[in-house]
Amino acid sequence: MKKKVLSLLLAGAMVMSMLAGCGSTKQTDAGAGSAAADKGSDSKVEVGVVLPTKDEPRWLQDQSQFESILGDAGFTNQVLFSQGSSATEKTNVETLLNQGIKVLIICAQDGAAASAAVEEAKDAGVTVIAYDRLITGTDAVDYYVTFDSVAVGKAQGQYLVDNAGDKKDVPLYLYAGAATDNNAFLFFQGAWEVLQPKIADGTFVIANSSEAEAVKDKAELTREEEGKIIGQVSTDWDFNVAKSKAESNLTAANESMKGDVAVLAPNDGTSRSIADVFATDKDVTSYAITGQDTEKASVQYVLDGKQSMTVFKDTRKLAADSVDMAVSILKGETPKTDTTYDNDSKEVPAKQTDIQVVTKDNVKEALIDSGYYEASEFTGLE
Ligand code: BGC
Repeated sequence: MKKKVLSLLLAGAMVMSMLAGCGSTKQTDAGAGSAAADKGSDSKVEVGVVLPTKDEPRWLQDQSQFESILGDAGFTNQVLFSQGSSATEKTNVETLLNQGIKVLIICAQDGAAASAAVEEAKDAGVTVIAYDRLITGTDAVDYYVTFDSVAVGKAQGQYLVDNAGDKKDVPLYLYAGAATDNNAFLFFQGAWEVLQPKIADGTFVIANSSEAEAVKDKAELTREEEGKIIGQVSTDWDFNVAKSKAESNLTAANESMKGDVAVLAPNDGTSRSIADVFATDKDVTSYAITGQDTEKASVQYVLDGKQSMTVFKDTRKLAADSVDMAVSILKGETPKTDTTYDNDSKEVPAKQTDIQVVTKDNVKEALIDSGYYEASEFTGLE
């Protein structure tokens, strides 16, 4: 990690000396759609970052990594939030284009709707890096920097399988992310790959999705089949939607769908909402529930035994990979990639990062010893 930061610093310094006339003031305004940070200054923003929302702690982690990594590398930078709106996202991109960015790093609110914004960027000669979420149906995406999202889903499914052990007929509640997010499909695909054989052998019984029930014998689902299930069990990445879906699922469930249950929750925010609902149902004797993002509140839930696992997606690495890419692009080099993703229009060259499962047993090693969080931010750590 140290080595990487050092090489970024050097590369950043080189780029700054190449870009004559560009200011080096760190610009870190985080207001939704606000470009106030650069107003009144003659500095130029070389790299612009657009993130989906400040209302989920996940993206605040990414914001703080970008601010420190871009700033340390000597870039004038700006991180803008779209606050759940594709229209605001487009305005944010236009704001950054007006400021003269050369590289756009964008995590789309809606993977298909974002095509208009990135096509505009491309027309302005900007290199577009899709960050974490793939932008689909357009040629205007140059690169993709991502975690291994199928592996995230597999890890979630595997946790539930391991936890069920030799039990039979464990009620399985399925929840998914927003259908507008390609990642929701990748997470579900990974989870299904692991869970389906265990539905087929009688370990699990699907509790809340007739669409999943209809395809339960299929090891591999088409995108359309996944779409139908996601349409039924989507949380829209929204805590309140997750909560009310869990409540209505439990209200509709008969006694055989209670007892010791397994819950596939797609991320930490929705997991905490869903866990709170399951925890208060008197007929649910125990629940195993997944998550991802190692949000602080969920790390505490894991330590308190209220959420079973989360998945560590090291945003330091993802932000650093994107900035590395931006540095190469600004130097006129071809950035290093290690795989490709089909976005329905082209094979997008991608840089992919591994993920790590976090349970009560390895919180300290994964998150504290690695310097991601401070021990003092949690209680119950040994
Ligand atoms: C990200 C997750 C995040 C979710 C909701 C996904 O695209 O990969 O980390 O929890 O969006 O914001």
